[in-house]
Parts: sequence; C-alpha cells; structure tokens
Amino acid sequence: MSEPVRFEDKVVIVTGAGGGLGRAHALLFAKHGARVVVNDLGGSARGEGANASAADRVVAEIREAGGTAIANHDSVTDGDKIVQNALDAFGRIDVVVNNAGILRDKTFAKMDDADWDLVYRVHVEGAYKVTHAAWPHMREQNYGRVIFTASTSGIYGNFGQSNYGMAKLGLYGLTRTLALEGRKNNILVNAIAPTGGTRMTEGLIPAAVFEMLKPELISPLVVFLGSEQCTETSGLFEVGGGWIGKTRWERSIGAGFDPRAGFSPEDVAASWDKIGDFEGASHPKDTAEALNEMMANLQRYAQ
Ligand SMILES: NC(=O)c1ccc[n+]([C@@H]2O[C@H](COP(=O)([O-])OP(=O)(O)OC[C@H]3O[C@@H](n4cnc5c(N)ncnc54)[C@H](O)[C@@H]3O)[C@@H](O)[C@H]2O)c1
Repeated sequence: MSEPVRFEDKVVIVTGAGGGLGRAHALLFAKHGARVVVNDLGGSARGEGANASAADRVVAEIREAGGTAIANHDSVTDGDKIVQNALDAFGRIDVVVNNAGILRDKTFAKMDDADWDLVYRVHVEGAYKVTHAAWPHMREQNYGRVIFTASTSGIYGNFGQSNYGMAKLGLYGLTRTLALEGRKNNILVNAIAPTGGTRMTEGLIPAAVFEMLKPELISPLVVFLGSEQCTETSGLFEVGGGWIGKTRWERSIGAGFDPRAGFSPEDVAASWDKIGDFEGASHPKDTAEALNEMMANLQRYAQ
C-alpha cells in the first residue's frame, strides 16, 4: 500500500470547477485535505454569460463534507485575481489545475475570428495567466505542481475542432517548457487528455457510454499529479473510464542525405517509405536527444 496522498498544508486552485471535471477534481482535493479555490465564471459551454452559483454550489458541497474551500468567480483570463484570492484567503498557492474550458466547434471553412480567439483566450491565455501569476510564489517556496488540461482533439485531431485542437496541443507545448524551467524549484508540470461525460461531451458520446465516463474517474490522476508523492514532470496522460495511459512522441530512424551534395525532391520521394518507417523508432525526451539523428547525419558525411 502506498503512502496516503494528503494536502493538509497545501492550497489548490482548480479553474472551471463549478461543474464537470473541475468539480470532481475540487471535491477530491478537498477530501484529501487541501484548501481549495473553486474558480468558475459560470458561463455557457460556448463561453457566453456568467453565473456565480456554479462555483458557490461546489464550495457548499465541499463544506458540507467537512472540507475547506472558497469560491472565485473571475474569468481565467484574469488569472492574477484568482491567485490573489488564494493568497488573501489561504496565504499560499501550491497547486494549479488549469481545467476551465469552452467549445466553439466549426469546420475550418466556417471558422470566424471570434470563435478562434475566444477558444484561444479561455484555454491558452487563461491557463497562462493563472499559472504565470502563481509561478513566482511557487519558485519562492521551492514547491509547486501544475496540471494542464489538453485533449485527444489536440493530440490526434478532431473534425470541427481546429480552434480547440490548436489550443489543447498548445497547452502541452507549454507543459514541456515549464517542466524544464520549473524543475530546479521543484515545480512539476504535467498535462492530461481526459475523456469524461460532462455538458461539453453530452450528445457527442453515445448515452450509454456517457453514463459510464464519470468525471470522478479522471480526478484520482489529477490529485496524484498535484501531490508531493508525484515526481513526474513533462508527462502527458490520456485518462477516462477508469483507464490511464501515458503518451509520448515517437520518431522514425529516418533517412539521411549527403548535406554537402544536397538532394532533390525526387530523392525525398525515393526515401519516403524509409522516412515513415517506425521500425526501431526512438522516443526523444528532450530537444538535445531530438537533434541526435540530425547531428549523426552531419557527422556521417563529414568524414
Ligand atoms: N469532457 C471531456 O471529455 C473532455 C475531453 C478533453 C478535454 N476536456 C477539457 O476538460 C476541461 C473541463 O471540461 P468539462 O468537460 O468538465 O466541461 P464543463 O463545461 O463541464 O466545464 C468547464 C468549466 O469551465 C468553466 N469556464 C469556462 N470558461 C471559463 C473562464 N473564462 N473562466 C473560468 N471558468 C470558465 C465553465 O463555466 C465550466 O464550469 C476543459 O478544459 C475541457 O476542454 C474535456
């Protein structure tokens, strides 16, 4: 049996925690002893309007269960206010779960600037603002955990979700660099790509499966990634329906050409199968490893 995962001296912000996955994360963090800032603007799934009752209801639920929480009704695009609220109420900030999100699905042909911008603003700028405001406090205390919410729509693509897919994979790009910059201050940064039955996926997932994809099945991973026990950083985890897997980049050995002589589009075509052959593929963990094959090719022809 592992050590109990506890948060007695820790303060956690969960954004978009008035419903869906965020609510489940907030409840589980509180159950494990965390003081929780339940943030939610309370708008529609398309990002319209605002309503304080979403966050207030979850705070009431946490308090009824004996936990400690406050509500915050700011938009994640005002991330500094959310972090200030946590500091004013609890004096510190240890964990940020960037979960708030909206959908504005449209094919790319029909996409307008407003749909593109709002999805970017809530998911990417919002996660940036909250995390950026919390970052100096985490550095100062030499401790922090940050979780970003990506999506399979970003990793693999999904018809009608060019704006959302861009934002979600962008958050994983942010995860990778923050993991490098945070490591020396014990700030660990990971991303999840969840699948859960929420208002966001209602009608998109068959009803019988929707019922089984309970948001509560995502939260144990999120709470673990937010804990002191977690030593993982830079990870991407697909999670849902009681299953958790880790996703990584895979790169073929590829084809090398003589960099001194140059090569033609026809040479590329002739090597196409080799370029895409994943037999013996590698899994570069950082940029230095990623450049290894290219450097080896330069050396091969330099001799
Ligand atoms: N449900 C899934 O299968 C699934 C799949 C992949 C990714 N996600 C991601 O998981 C996260 C949670 O989604 P969900 O399925 O629980 O949907 P949801 O709509 O139930 O929850 C999202 C919450 O974010 C809040 N929110 C929206 N804009 C906000 C803003 N500007 N500031 C503060 N709060 C805001 C909403 O009010 C809502 O309560 C989202 O980032 C979503 O993109 C969900």
